[in-house]
Amino acid sequence: MTMTILLRGIRPYGAGEPVDLLVRDGLIAALGSDVDADGAEVIDAGGLVALPGFVDLHTHLREPGREDAETIATGSAAAALGGYTAVFAMANTDPVADNAVVVEHVWRRGREVGLVDVHPVGAVTVGLRGERLAELGSMARSAAAVRMFSDDGHCVADPLLMRRALEYSTALGAVIAQHAEEPRLTEGAQAHDGELAARLGLTGWPAVAEEAIVARDCLLARYTAARLHVCHVSTAGTAEILRWAKASGVSVSAEVTPHHLLLDEERLTTFDPVNKVNPPLRALSDTKALRAALAEGVIDCVATDHAPHAPQDKDCEWAAARPGMLGLQTALSVVVATMVRPGLLDWRGVARVLSERPAEIAGLPDQGRPLEPGEPATLTLVDPDATWTVRGAALASIAGNTPYEGMTLPGRVVTTLLRGRITAHDGKVGE
Ligand code: DOR
Repeated sequence: MTMTILLRGIRPYGAGEPVDLLVRDGLIAALGSDVDADGAEVIDAGGLVALPGFVDLHTHLREPGREDAETIATGSAAAALGGYTAVFAMANTDPVADNAVVVEHVWRRGREVGLVDVHPVGAVTVGLRGERLAELGSMARSAAAVRMFSDDGHCVADPLLMRRALEYSTALGAVIAQHAEEPRLTEGAQAHDGELAARLGLTGWPAVAEEAIVARDCLLARYTAARLHVCHVSTAGTAEILRWAKASGVSVSAEVTPHHLLLDEERLTTFDPVNKVNPPLRALSDTKALRAALAEGVIDCVATDHAPHAPQDKDCEWAAARPGMLGLQTALSVVVATMVRPGLLDWRGVARVLSERPAEIAGLPDQGRPLEPGEPATLTLVDPDATWTVRGAALASIAGNTPYEGMTLPGRVVTTLLRGRITAHDGKVGE
């Protein structure tokens, strides 16, 4: 059942005079100062910024296989609370999402939970082993209609396999999302390759391991006339390569994670594995270059790489710990802290990097839409002035591995609507 809801006093994209927004039958029915709201549930949204619902191109929901870290239900709750209305669930589950049965299972379970549109990402290679292509076509034709493929967590390192994947993806109207990491250059790597890693005695993870693959794949995308998406860009050099590739007409898009915008390698001095992530936290100069590249549009969007891990996989020595950190419920606040407060992005820019561009890259016709009458009421209301203190135990994820524990961050998601239904409000899931 859909309700009629009047959101009173919102500011679309944070600009202009406050207006009322009427939601009826899942759509934005009216927007203005004298909206007729007979019979509507009225929500006082005075001072809140309205944005299209956020779209995350990079989420690990861990189901099937690691339900001790996250499930589709708990991950969807975290997503809704974080302002997301669509997420792309990465394929490195157990079993791997490399066939129609697994992707359909994830898709169906997402629909049952119903808090966010869950789009399974299909693996590029069977078992993520990088040896032979998975059945991309059968995943594309399944009920899940997969349009994004990735071996995320692993790089498609073999250039011939990557070429073939790009060729097939074009025929399927899909995009290949590459985890750019030349495996020979990161053997045993534990921390960004630099003076700090040497001092800490950790094997270096050089920037060129990422940059070499991104450069190669941009050339392959041009050669095959295919679309390439680069996952979790982490170095200034990668941003330079993307700038060149885009200027020369390569069909490439790219994402940056919130943690690579906010945190740098200095966090590693405590040896707390909560800071271990792939790609690693980089030098402060990289962090600054990533912010600038996102502001400029060289990096298209923010994607969380939300990576929940069970305590036994994180609360151990550095070398044994799994890489990854939670991200869904903190992404907006990190974007406010790193991009909005320093004046690098206004709220229209936030809509671009969290909603519009990711929806375009993934080809979602009903997400990232303008806030106009007749459009789906799929939106997020943000309190731009609020601050909150992150507590891992209070987040919706089963795992608690947030690197922002105890940090006070600006900007808070107040309400999320998916096609006119309230999926999160005031820190609670559902209506
Ligand atoms: O830190 C990461 N964790 N990076 C990845 O690419 C994979 C992810 C995971 O699955 O835990």
